[in-house]
Amino acid sequence: MSDIPRLAGLVDAYFEEALSLRDDALEGALRRSAEAGLPPINVSACQGKLLELLALTAGARSVLEVGTLGGFSTIFLARAARAAGGRVLSLELKEAHAAVARMNLADAGVAELVEVRVGPALESMMALGPADGAPFDFVFIDADKQTTAEYFDRALELSRPGTLIVVDNVGREGAVADAASTDPSVLGIRRFVERLRGNPRVAATAIQTIGAKSHDGFALVRVLS
Ligand code: SAH
Ligand code: DHB
Ligand code: MG
Repeated sequence: MSDIPRLAGLVDAYFEEALSLRDDALEGALRRSAEAGLPPINVSACQGKLLELLALTAGARSVLEVGTLGGFSTIFLARAARAAGGRVLSLELKEAHAAVARMNLADAGVAELVEVRVGPALESMMALGPADGAPFDFVFIDADKQTTAEYFDRALELSRPGTLIVVDNVGREGAVADAASTDPSVLGIRRFVERLRGNPRVAATAIQTIGAKSHDGFALVRVLS
């Protein structure tokens, strides 16, 4: 068991190289983010490419991201949106993170199709309407985990039948399966999962993710009605 993080890191590195998942723009984004002191909590390149492929497959033209950090995941989402002639709106609490993300997005050549909006994401989401791209075709929720359920509630209101909502960090090193956990992040994720339980408006699954940095997971939710 203790060998799994090491193996996961080797496997990630193998696929990143074999599938050319880390180009200059993505490498530069990670380097600039580290230099600026941002925490290394971005999705992995393999996970980012999954987001891109999901958004591409959905034909997403209007994409909402909750939690920008340095814009690493945003670059993948923007590449998918660009293929459909669309746009990304990414919400971030911290101006310092948004500033790094804007530089990374410019270097990746996607600045003109991404807006990074600064503020508490729930407040930003409450103010969103058609002028901002709602209803969205694809939503990626990846901000503070204790608020994930509320982000999901509002994402549903900003969706249409067929919208795909992806939620990061639903595994929490296994802690999500601990009904006795008092960790606010775990409680936030579990409250989100209760929104899915028996909900006829959605079809949903959760996939565990394992990488060099963590054992976690993505929830995938298709809005039905
Ligand atoms: N999606 C990014 C990682 C996001 S990390 C990637 O994979 O590359 C989570 C981000 O959410 C951090 O930048 C953090 O500042 C931001 N965040 C935390 N609380 C928030 C809030 N209340 N509103 C908006 N963003 C928030
Ligand atoms: C954290 C946040 C994330 O979005 C993530 O993917 C991993 C860790 C965190 O806040 O620790
Ligand atoms: Mg995350």
